[in-house]
Amino acid sequence: MLGRGVLLVMRTVLISFVLLGMVLMAHAVAAQTVELSVDVSNVGAKIDRNVFGQFAEHLGHGVYGGIWVGPDSTIPNTRGIRNDVVSALKALKVPNVRWPGGCFADEYHWRNGIGPQRVVTLNPNWGGVIEPNTFGTQEFMDFLDQIGAEASISINIGSGTPREAAEWLEYVTSAQSTTLAKERAANGHPVPWKVAFLGIGNESWDCGGNMAPDYYLSQLKIYTRFVRNFNPAQQDKDQMVKIAVGPGGDGPEWTEWTEAIMKAYQNRHSSWDISGLSMHSYTVAHWPPSFASVDFGKTEYSRMLKLTLAMDNLINTHSAIMDKYDPKKKVALIVDEWGAWYAPLPGSNAGFLVQQNSLRDAILAALNLNIFARHADRVRGANIAQMVNVLQAMIMTDKEKMVLTPTYHVFKMYVPFQDASFVPVAFDAGTYTHGDISLPRIDAIAAKDTAGKLWLAVTNLDPNQPVEIEANLAGMTAKSAVGETLTAPKVDSVNTFDAPNTVVPKPVSARVQDGRLALRLEPKSVTVISVEQ
Ligand code: AHR
Repeated sequence: MLGRGVLLVMRTVLISFVLLGMVLMAHAVAAQTVELSVDVSNVGAKIDRNVFGQFAEHLGHGVYGGIWVGPDSTIPNTRGIRNDVVSALKALKVPNVRWPGGCFADEYHWRNGIGPQRVVTLNPNWGGVIEPNTFGTQEFMDFLDQIGAEASISINIGSGTPREAAEWLEYVTSAQSTTLAKERAANGHPVPWKVAFLGIGNESWDCGGNMAPDYYLSQLKIYTRFVRNFNPAQQDKDQMVKIAVGPGGDGPEWTEWTEAIMKAYQNRHSSWDISGLSMHSYTVAHWPPSFASVDFGKTEYSRMLKLTLAMDNLINTHSAIMDKYDPKKKVALIVDEWGAWYAPLPGSNAGFLVQQNSLRDAILAALNLNIFARHADRVRGANIAQMVNVLQAMIMTDKEKMVLTPTYHVFKMYVPFQDASFVPVAFDAGTYTHGDISLPRIDAIAAKDTAGKLWLAVTNLDPNQPVEIEANLAGMTAKSAVGETLTAPKVDSVNTFDAPNTVVPKPVSARVQDGRLALRLEPKSVTVISVEQ
């Protein structure tokens, strides 16, 4: 038997340990404070809404099953296009959709996809599956009408001809009664369509034909000369942006490519022109992609975020070359393929590029959108790869089922930034360290929308610690601030068909006093708030 005194001492020691533990835990979750300075009177470039563009390639179930189910499907549809997907995409105010590829574009022959009799071909790039061509020009344009987006078409310069591409554009855009315009009318669309963007090839340095810069340039000149947009509504204003193939990564071969195109642009004759240069940059840890999109930890989380932040330097490098030859920034840098690329989900067709989408991807998307916003004067277009069921998708479908991904929610939260004017934010981000990886603890952008309202997007990269934001808002008298925050229990939390609401935004409000705004950011979260004055 222990004596009463000994028991008392043991109890005191135990209580002390518990109290010490509580103090240590409280310390562990103590929020860091980060000061933001926003001067609302200091407005910068417009964040072009086209930076929020999407990409739909004939790849896996990106189109077939994901968008197109056919008019006879039991899945509710309008003229063959899924109603659930359309209504989800409408909420994103998708500005433009890039189509039909990707690598697919340089093997696409548009005549296979028009009229009542479609030509059945193969899709050698992506699994070697049958390409029924039931989703062609008419269906793509109908889809755009239904979601309220503009067309970004990539023409086939790898295995097509200038004549084939020129005739496609005449078929699509001619208002005059040419044989091709009459064919379009006979196929159900007498009125010409608009084409906002025209990609002159895709990755012509690789799957688009393995061209050297000089060879590509000779093609570019021919195609930009002869592939014309005849739509009367696009002659004086809303002119089609012709996009040259640009760099595909970091390193001298890519800077040489940009140099070659931009130098030729500076010395161009009146017979050819471009107003966009494409850039492709995926966030991928190894090649071929081996990082899993599910069941990962903070190491893989930190690694992917670190890699994605390299987008900023890449844009700096290529913008600097563009500035040299185009100081007035007439040519837009269009990042028309970006996003996370992981190993295919086990059990999926490796050629279909199926991956899950987690909270990590939502944060990765926000960081990239912030980078694009900070480069708004040059980056005037971007297309995340890809819209449905492929790579970093907004939406995943399985037959009649549909689920919205964490990335979808970030795009929705960022809608107010479309065409808003960039407002610089100054802050000391602090550091989150995991092993040998250091990341900024927070990231933030601000913008004034077309109605003059201020919006703030703040991301807490730190998966462990909350952050207290204290923002000084000069140039306005803030009264209140509300918005939404996106987080989830774990960095690898995902939405599934059975549990679609694991990663969904929740309402949040900030405390506003004497023009200062205070907001607590949850660990690993993206928050967007609007400020009322
Ligand atoms: O998005 C998947 C593929 O990635 C595209 O088809 C190609 O352009 C890029 O290499």
